[in-house]
Amino acid sequence: MTNIVILTGAGISAESGLGTFRDEGGLWAQHRIEDVATPEGFARNPQLVHDFYNARRAQAAEAQPNAAHAALADLENQLDGDVLIVTQNVDDLHEKAGSRNVVHMHGALNKALCAVCDHRWDAPLLMAPEDACPRCNAPSTRPDVVWFGEIPYAMEDIAEALSKADVFVSIGTSGEVYPAANFVAEADHFGAHTIELNLEPSAGASRFSECRFGPASETVPTWVTEELKR
Ligand code: APR
Repeated sequence: MTNIVILTGAGISAESGLGTFRDEGGLWAQHRIEDVATPEGFARNPQLVHDFYNARRAQAAEAQPNAAHAALADLENQLDGDVLIVTQNVDDLHEKAGSRNVVHMHGALNKALCAVCDHRWDAPLLMAPEDACPRCNAPSTRPDVVWFGEIPYAMEDIAEALSKADVFVSIGTSGEVYPAANFVAEADHFGAHTIELNLEPSAGASRFSECRFGPASETVPTWVTEELKR
């Protein structure tokens, strides 16, 4: 029985046509983080923030999983052991590919959250500042996305999974954003073999036992095939 924890970032969805954040021409070159990805930005201009996430929701709804997402779903189905995907991505391409054990630590574009009563529901394609919460009726609905300055979801469950992991794999993430960037150190501390699969060395590349560089659609299926033969 092998226990595998996989952290994914924007790089795994890049070949499905969804932009990354920090690559050249990425989302953070086009938008100011303070304006569209902080609670303060949302308080200042909720329409601007909804416009940003509405555009991303529409794009994600059209996107299809690529060979990397598909390989991870195969791994979960075929491995004699457990596979947990912890994704920083707010798209649903892991689920579209058939993965079932997925934690969205930075939230999900297809969910809405009430800032007053914390109720969650399926987001409509277009959200607006005046939308009322279906439970408490407050016009305080927001995308269910974790912004800078907020605490990511499921941190206790993730910490527990990392402490039991035999293998920890980080795919398509720059390693610039904490706490996710520290998962490799946590997994390593508990004895996991740690692997980075990324287009290029991430900020934390030296902390991994093994690194493989190239597009996720190539490196991930190759690694999954090896892991299933083990
Ligand atoms: N295959 C593999 N890796 C790729 C590919 C690809 N085809 N294309 C790009 N990459 C790599 C880049 O080299 C980069 O290291 O993916 C990484 C993407 O990094 P970021 O844009 O920083 O995305 P991510 O690490 O997911 O960002 C973390 O930052 O703003 C927040 O909340 C947002 O969840 C996000 C978090």
